[in-house]
Amino acid sequence: MQADIIVVAAGKGERMGRELPKPFLPVGGLPLLIHTLRAITQSSLIANIILVAAPEREALCHDILRAHGRFHVPVTVVHGGAERQDSVRLGLAALDTTSEIVAIHDAARPFLDREILERSIETAALHGAALVAVPARDTIKRVGEDGTVVETIPRQQLWLAQTPQTFRVALIREAHARALAGGVVVTDDAALLEHWGQVVKIVPGSYRNFKITTPEDLLVAEALLRIG
Ligand code: C5P
Repeated sequence: MQADIIVVAAGKGERMGRELPKPFLPVGGLPLLIHTLRAITQSSLIANIILVAAPEREALCHDILRAHGRFHVPVTVVHGGAERQDSVRLGLAALDTTSEIVAIHDAARPFLDREILERSIETAALHGAALVAVPARDTIKRVGEDGTVVETIPRQQLWLAQTPQTFRVALIREAHARALAGGVVVTDDAALLEHWGQVVKIVPGSYRNFKITTPEDLLVAEALLRIG
């Protein structure tokens, strides 16, 4: 069974403090986005890639794809929105009507493992929704606005959500439509399904699959690429 993948790259990347958003920053001599697309195309289960980019970066996307993107999988560039959730919804709207399973992945996670991507697709086909996540390694505290600890959350139950998050297309489309109608705003797609009581299965991820967010993360990414 094959799946399509939506790669969201329409963020502003303000935490990076650079003019270009992070998917377009060079890592190991190539735009970060190209590393992510190369990782995705390691899997023969991916049929189509929808690349969601800010309208003002569309030309840059096409330039980068022309220069570095000889993939055997078609890549379609569509416009994103103000929030990540808007970008995903616009990506979903661009899927082919025959598409049954869709993975949603952050462009800023270049160290995606083929087996984990494929396990998420298989899990979504079986259960409807699959969330790649890793167990929390640090103890996590809930902290009040006054800067004092409210509680310590038992670590055994805590997992850090990553992407890909993979779904039956009908299920995630409906969740996004309901969220739009109800004004529900979340930071990841699985949360929309949880909101309506849908089962979301965990697929154990990898700590390498981190989201590049800060300048330090870029240095770590450079080092990881060097050692392979
Ligand atoms: O901002 P954050 O790090 O959570 O973004 C995660 C991913 O979502 C990034 O790859 C970013 O480009 C994407 N994004 C998007 N549209 C937005 C905001 C974020 O495609 N409006």
